[in-house]
Amino acid sequence: MSGHLVSKLVEEGYVPFAFGNRRNLELLHPAPFGVDLHMIAADDPKNLTYHHAINRLNGLAYGGKDMGMPAWVQIDCGILPSAFVGFALPAQLLPEKLKWQMEINDEAGLVPVAEAISIPTVQPGKFTSFSMCSVIPGKQLGYAAKLLSLKAYGCRETAGVAQFDNFALRIHTRFGALSIEEPHVPYHTCPENTFVYGCDLRGGSVLDVLERGGRVDDDREPTFWLESRDTERMVAMADRVRARTHRYWLLPPGAQRRDDGVFSPILEVEV
Ligand SMILES: CC(C)(COP(=O)(O)OP(=O)(O)OC[C@H]1O[C@@H](n2cnc3c(N)ncnc32)[C@H](O)[C@@H]1OP(=O)(O)O)[C@@H](O)C(=O)NCCC(=O)NCCS
Repeated sequence: MSGHLVSKLVEEGYVPFAFGNRRNLELLHPAPFGVDLHMIAADDPKNLTYHHAINRLNGLAYGGKDMGMPAWVQIDCGILPSAFVGFALPAQLLPEKLKWQMEINDEAGLVPVAEAISIPTVQPGKFTSFSMCSVIPGKQLGYAAKLLSLKAYGCRETAGVAQFDNFALRIHTRFGALSIEEPHVPYHTCPENTFVYGCDLRGGSVLDVLERGGRVDDDREPTFWLESRDTERMVAMADRVRARTHRYWLLPPGAQRRDDGVFSPILEVEV
C-alpha cells in the first residue's frame, strides 16, 4: 500500500460516486482527497437502476443476491440520513461474469462495484458505519470506499458493530486501534461474538495519512489474544467495562487466523 490510494483507483478508471438524498449530496465534500465525486441523486426516478445496482452489489458481496440489505434499510438507514460512497465502473468495462452476476443488461451508464456507508449520530462528527463491500477483490476498493466516504462526510470519529471473526477487522484497524465499547452484544443477530467499537480519527487527520499510503502506528502490545468464539471471555470483559474497572482495545492489525481459530490482539487497561 503506497502512493495515493484513491487517485490511483481513479487513474485506473474507477469512478468515485456518492448516492443519496439530494440535500445530503449537497453537504458532502465535493472532492475528497482532490477527486471529484460523481453525485447520483437517489430521489431522482431516473436513478432507479442505481438503487437496484447498489442492492445487488451489497447482496453479492455479502454472499448471494438475495442477501442484500432490504430495500427499506437502504432508504431509511442509508439514503435518507446519509449517502453511499464508493467506486463505480462504466458498464462496458465490467468483467463479463460480474455483468451477469449483477444482472446488467444495459452497456450504458455506471455500475457500482464497491461501497461504504456511515450515518451520523447525535454526537457531532461521530458516524456509525454499517456497510463496506466490494465485488472486485485485490484492489483495496472496499477499504478505499470507507476512506473516501469518511472524508466526504467530514467524519472525526467512527463507531461500528462487528464480529470478532470478521476479517474486515483488518481493514477497520488500519484507521487505528478500536476501542471496544461493548465487548458482548447479546441482543444482536450474532450474539456469540458481536461487539461495538469506536475509532478516533484524530480530527480526521488519520484519513489523509491513510490515503497517502501511510500507516497509523500503534506499538502497544496486546495483553491477551481473544479467540473469536470465546463468548464467556467476552461476557467477562463486558462485565468489567460496565463496572468501569477496565477498558479494552482491539489493536492493529486485527484478527489473525491460526490453526486453532481466529484470534484478536486485545489490550486491557485498568481504569
Ligand atoms: C471486506 C471487503 C470489503 C474488503 O474489500 P477490499 O478492500 O476491496 O479488499 P481486498 O480484496 O483488496 O483485500 C484487502 C485486504 O483484506 C484481506 N482480506 C480480504 N478478505 C479477506 C478474508 N476473507 N480473509 C483474510 N483476508 C482478507 C486481503 O488479503 C487484503 O489484505 P492486504 O491488503 O494485506 O493484502 C470485501 O472483502 C467484502 O466485500 N467482503 C464481504 C462483505 C463484508 O464482510 N464486509 C465487511 C463488513 S463490516
